[in-house]
Amino acid sequence: MSDLKQDLARLKSNFDEAVTQVLTSQAVEQLKVQFLGKKGEMTSILRGMGGLSAEERPLAGQLANQVREHIEGQIEAVLTTIKEKEKNVRLKMEKIDVTIPGTRLPQGARHPLTKVIDEICGVFLGLGFSIAEGPEIELDKYNFEMLRIPEGHPARDTQDTFYITEKMVLRTQTSPVQIRVMIEQEPPIKIVCPGKVYRSDALDATHSPIFHQIEGLVVDKGVTMGDLVGSLQLFARQLFGEKTEIRLRPHHFPFTEPSCEVDITCWNCGGAGCRTCKGEGWIEVLGAGMVHPGVLKNCGIDPDVYSGFAFGIGVERTAMGRYGIDDIRNFYENDLRFLRQFR
Ligand code: DAH
Repeated sequence: MSDLKQDLARLKSNFDEAVTQVLTSQAVEQLKVQFLGKKGEMTSILRGMGGLSAEERPLAGQLANQVREHIEGQIEAVLTTIKEKEKNVRLKMEKIDVTIPGTRLPQGARHPLTKVIDEICGVFLGLGFSIAEGPEIELDKYNFEMLRIPEGHPARDTQDTFYITEKMVLRTQTSPVQIRVMIEQEPPIKIVCPGKVYRSDALDATHSPIFHQIEGLVVDKGVTMGDLVGSLQLFARQLFGEKTEIRLRPHHFPFTEPSCEVDITCWNCGGAGCRTCKGEGWIEVLGAGMVHPGVLKNCGIDPDVYSGFAFGIGVERTAMGRYGIDDIRNFYENDLRFLRQFR
């Protein structure tokens, strides 16, 4: 019994000594295992209880419990202090100095095509138009048929088409959005439709199989060619400068009648003639016309009550003109040296 007492006393003083040395919560945990764990010192002392008499055993048990409680209490107290200290150290280390300049993320720029689309749409939004969008995978019916371009029509040849199925195409123009809007909406309609279009053209300096158009459509009672000219005049001046003039040349589109191509005075020389306009003084920017009565009828709009005008602007061509870009491929190659010029 006295051996056991001595052992417990030694254990306690060993522990008391050791506990003053620990510095981290990890070390405290280790200490706990060393003294109280299953294979620890306390366990090995208690094994000696087997040799005690029945009267001695409870006493020994009591003594052992006292020592155990002492150790547990100490460990808890030390652990609390150490954890508090560790937390303070962490808080100090993680302190944020809001006055240190941040790491700058490299900043991109809006793509020149996006800029031109936003600018053009901005002008028409200012005129009370809203933006409409349609799918790039389009029904042949909307892309061609309802725009009065039936199978075999020569206009199909100029719009070399990517067919998905016999009845579905990658849209070759934004004009099918007109159809979608007219089917769904009652006049008055005033929309612009920006978006990607696809034609199976080989990529060269002026052609790309994917490019962008902005379609415009106005349908209401009493809309005239004068409204078309007025709107396009305003658009041209806002985008290319107050002195810009527009010129209409007769043309043919199956979905408008009459139809025209619209030129503006050269943004480079103002009309005198230069390299940009190939000496013409004029640059073609869009196609337009009065919506064909047959198209209105196809969409359930009575051409005896309503009339409308429409136009289609090529975004790439406009952007190339505005920024003096001579190769369309620049837009799609993601060369930062090119793109950074449009910050
Ligand atoms: N869809 C025509 C094209 O891709 C452009 C166009 C011309 C659209 C005249 C129109 C328009 O709405 O009235 O060539």
